[in-house]
Amino acid sequence: MAGVAKQNILLGVTGGISAYKSVELARLLLKAGASVRVVMTEAAGRFVSPLTFQAVTGNPVRTALFDEKHEAAMGHIELARWADRMLIAPASADFMARMAQGVANDLLSTVYLACPSPVAIAPAMNTNMWQHPAVQHNLSVLEGRGVRVLGPASGEQACGDKGFGRMLEPMEILATLKKELQSMPFASKKVLVTAGPTHEAIDPVRFIGNRSSGKMGYALARAFQEKGADVLLVSGPVSLASPPGVERIEVQTALQMYEAVFENIHAVDIFAGCAAVADYRPEHASEQKIKKSADKMDITLVRNPDILAEVAALEDGPFTLGFAAETEKLIENARAKLQAKQLDMLAANRVGEGMGFERDENSLRVIWSAGEEQLPVQDKQLLAEALVDLLANRYQANE
Ligand code: CTP
Repeated sequence: MAGVAKQNILLGVTGGISAYKSVELARLLLKAGASVRVVMTEAAGRFVSPLTFQAVTGNPVRTALFDEKHEAAMGHIELARWADRMLIAPASADFMARMAQGVANDLLSTVYLACPSPVAIAPAMNTNMWQHPAVQHNLSVLEGRGVRVLGPASGEQACGDKGFGRMLEPMEILATLKKELQSMPFASKKVLVTAGPTHEAIDPVRFIGNRSSGKMGYALARAFQEKGADVLLVSGPVSLASPPGVERIEVQTALQMYEAVFENIHAVDIFAGCAAVADYRPEHASEQKIKKSADKMDITLVRNPDILAEVAALEDGPFTLGFAAETEKLIENARAKLQAKQLDMLAANRVGEGMGFERDENSLRVIWSAGEEQLPVQDKQLLAEALVDLLANRYQANE
């Protein structure tokens, strides 16, 4: 599917001696079929002239935020939207610090904050600077937010020092980018994942819930994000952190989950219903805490909407992946569910004694109309990655 060809790449160049290498990088990206636009910081302009990049890319090079002529042609927000990817090479220690802090005091840092697409940086600096705890801290902040870090390489530096800090060679940056894009089957696809349990209130302190920990849904969201998707996670109450780069809407009840899903579903290419949605909710939730006065208590439950089935029934709806937790007749029940809900794919797992919920490992039987595959017991993150690979094949076949 996606390679470097036809990608809109916004190349950010910051101040450092290796800025001259980025001219070659821009040329290689163009040769590989990408569209390239360059944004330079003021410091970068001290090392290489914007005109050099302009001559290589054939596009005007932007350096200033408040440039009326350029803003009228393509404003900084449009520029951020235009980019399928942002690549900042070289990324100086100063620029990494500004990225980590969210400082938007020039055009490149502003575009970075406004850019919803994946961002990669190729750091370049003196080896002592690279090793400084402040730089390493910023690095881990950026990695934690899903910024891809390419390099740096080790070797002799312009200043004479030896060690890590050299910018990767343009050919190496291109090769890494190509490899990543080839393993990005969901580049520019929007995926919505539901995860976790729902809590259906009985009164202000009690609810009906289930044992779902959300681990599988969160692992799935991370796996989709790592394969290039723009992921929205609609999550019931769990104690997990959002995977890096994943947007999350938190809900409590099935009705809230339903609303959050249908507010967003129209832009979605793939829907993965991984939440253990409560099938029923108390008809009336008491406004005050219920006192234990009577010997017996009846709670009338009413059906919740089936989010997955309703998404699958949409005209021109997304590709749908459902989950089925079964205690018996796994394959028979799963096939019936695939049919009944008209899903594209269903992942079934056995639950009960020591299996399924609240565990770090699981196995899945994945079925679709004309086939099935068993994914063996493994860590839920690895399992999610295998499931996403399988889904990529089915999704591409459907397209
Ligand atoms: N699901 C949903 N909304 C509901 C109930 C379930 O979106 N109100 C989705 C779950 O996220 C999961 C699949 O449907 O992907 C699970 O279905 P499951 O609860 O196992 O089966 P049901 O269809 O509810 O049938 P049963 O409980 O009778 O097995």
